[in-house]
Amino acid sequence: MSNPVPPENAPESEAESEDPILSLSKLAGGLVHEIRNPLSTMNMNLQLLLEDWEGGESPKEQRTLKKIRTLQREVKRLEGILGDFLRFTRGHRLEKEPQSVAALLQELVEFFSPEAEKHGLSLRLSVEPSLPAVPVDRDYLKQALLNLFLNAQQALGRRGEIFVRARRDDDCVAIEVIDNGPGIPSDRLARIFEVYYSSRRGGSGLGLPLARRIIEEHGGTLTVQSEVGQGTDFTIRLPIDAD
Ligand SMILES: Nc1ncnc2c1ncn2[C@@H]1O[C@H](COP(=O)(O)OP(=O)(O)O)[C@@H](O)[C@H]1O
Ligand SMILES: [Mg+2]
Repeated sequence: MSNPVPPENAPESEAESEDPILSLSKLAGGLVHEIRNPLSTMNMNLQLLLEDWEGGESPKEQRTLKKIRTLQREVKRLEGILGDFLRFTRGHRLEKEPQSVAALLQELVEFFSPEAEKHGLSLRLSVEPSLPAVPVDRDYLKQALLNLFLNAQQALGRRGEIFVRARRDDDCVAIEVIDNGPGIPSDRLARIFEVYYSSRRGGSGLGLPLARRIIEEHGGTLTVQSEVGQGTDFTIRLPIDAD
């Protein structure tokens, strides 16, 4: 049967008028929540199992413990992927307010220091004096920066430095996250902002696309320069005057 022709000026139904991307991301968000609940049950029970078997010294007990730890690691990994996915699909509503980049970076560096220390990395911050305030959404900008910090830390492994630098750059404030890690070969460099591209075991491949999207929603840019054997420099440029 052919579809009846809708009368002219008929109001569109809600489902039809909704942005398909939006409804897709709602659907995906729902699915993520459904998966998260059983995962957290698994996590809890694995923890209990671990406590039951901990301290066992026979080879069989040791093997069992090892398997439990592997399962825990994989569950954690899935939780991480779901978290990244949710942050990526969720629509952003930025609440921009003029912010001091110096204060924000100081706060973030303090927050990340214990993590850097744990990995034996040094974390250094240098902010040009009297930078103008920039209209940003603090939480989202922090999230984008944190993704860059984490990537640097993961690339460095157990040795090296993360250097965070902020300076005036024409009508922008530029924030750089620089590491002296292994660098990124050019064939990989072309792909790192692709959704789901990851060279790390257990990586979600959503960190950089999410960071770039957040920065672009601020009217800014996120770019990268990298040299193999030297390190990598991610640069965020945020316009001082919004719009
Ligand atoms: N500082 C860095 N040094 C070297 N490679 C990096 C760095 N930051 C990102 N990358 C590369 O970009 C890829 C994508 O990063 P990202 O989108 O955050 O996903 P993930 O961290 O889950 O792999 C990483 O897997 C890695 O290959
Ligand atoms: Mg990442």
